Amino acid sequence: MLTPSSPDPLPSLLPAGSPSGLLIEGDNLPALRALLPRLRGTVKVIYLDPPYNTGNAHAYHDRFGTTGLSRGAAGHADWLDFMRPRLELARDLLREDGVLFLHIDDRESAYAQILGHDVFGERNSLGTLIHQRAKGGGNARSFVRGHDYIHVWGKDSSQVGPFVTEKKPPARYEAIDGQRMLVEDDVLRVSFGRYRRGEERRLMYEDIESVRGAQKLAQVDARIAAGEYALRPWGEPDPATGQQKHAVVRLTPAQDATSKLYSIIRVMNAEGSADLERLGLGGIFGYPKPVELLRVLIESQTWNDPDALIMDFFAGSGTTAEAVLRANLRDGGRRRFILVQQPEPLRQDYSSTGGRSMPAAASGDDAADTTAEAADPEDGDPPPPARAAAPTFETISAFCAERVRRAVAAHVESGGDPVALTVLTQEELVRSLASGATPPV
Ligand SMILES: C[S@@+](CC[C@H](N)C(=O)[O-])C[C@H]1O[C@@H](n2cnc3c(N)ncnc32)[C@H](O)[C@@H]1O
Repeated sequence: MLTPSSPDPLPSLLPAGSPSGLLIEGDNLPALRALLPRLRGTVKVIYLDPPYNTGNAHAYHDRFGTTGLSRGAAGHADWLDFMRPRLELARDLLREDGVLFLHIDDRESAYAQILGHDVFGERNSLGTLIHQRAKGGGNARSFVRGHDYIHVWGKDSSQVGPFVTEKKPPARYEAIDGQRMLVEDDVLRVSFGRYRRGEERRLMYEDIESVRGAQKLAQVDARIAAGEYALRPWGEPDPATGQQKHAVVRLTPAQDATSKLYSIIRVMNAEGSADLERLGLGGIFGYPKPVELLRVLIESQTWNDPDALIMDFFAGSGTTAEAVLRANLRDGGRRRFILVQQPEPLRQDYSSTGGRSMPAAASGDDAADTTAEAADPEDGDPPPPARAAAPTFETISAFCAERVRRAVAAHVESGGDPVALTVLTQEELVRSLASGATPPV
């Protein structure tokens, strides 16, 4: 079902009502400009993980500015010039209740935040999440950096609902009559306040009337009749009478069992490498984000919006696409995704990098950094695992396309709905938008 704010903007490329995805192999600036007339105001979530401007050896160009290692203001200014038009396009693509997640590390975080305030308006800032990505390690000069920042803005913050996530343990889930339910056994208490260790605080069903009165018992009975509560035998039967008491448990369908998202999200970056290995693509792209992190972010704003359109135009290895599939698998949703990744050369030099990928045509400062920064000593991330025999790819976008294809195949194998995936070059995109014809898939 499409919401009124998300009409079917690209029927031939992203058919509505069924899961589908579009990957554009090209520079995101012209690609977004081409898409904007069709997609304006239709995207619910945009996740951006742009180059951090660290100058480190990565699969992609990660250095802005031209003044060597101590680039200072020049590097920041170039990075800001690169980001501003892209953030402005992101803002225009978002629905009124849409949100943008901007993932960044220390180097550009402050600049990114001020740029975002400028583009979205500070009143539309929703705050900053911390992504704890590593536990320790590294030979830090000062301290081990184990986290990044995710700045969040709404197109119109007053229209953005709460960010939610599935209730975590001690919450317990059980399949009841084929439906996944949250089971809470601590909903009725003997009294309010503190309890001594080992003291039973649950009020047993058999004691409700004597402790809380007949009216409370009637309320509980009504909720049992409505299927909201159930009774569970609790503790041992009374040795004298043989009577078995029962706890009152609350049953909530899993899709309604949410808590507010906590501002610190802990998903190790090493999981991102494992995600690629599971698809037979390990050791090719350094430091992909973990699928689980992206799933949490995407679901936080699409929990009750399973037809939402999700976008990532710094797609890298394509993590966002797999996260959308995972979210759909969990709730049977039909979320669709658009990724943009430029066909940047992907050099795979495993002997010197421990499996990390590097730009093929690094030059000048980039080339110098490539060897100098095989591993950031202050970074708590372990180096990616060495590559097993794996296919080779000339460009990052080709790698991304293959990852998304494999993720789609794995999704269908796990019982997910088929996904219509379209991969286009930028030129094909422009042609197909101009003609309105269905492009080659
Ligand atoms: C930090 S990586 C993203 C990693 C990704 N989140 C993942 O999990 O794999 C940034 C990516 O943006 C891409 N990129 C940089 N500039 C771009 C541009 N102008 N258009 C499209 N992609 C670009 C780089 O090639 C790189 O793959």
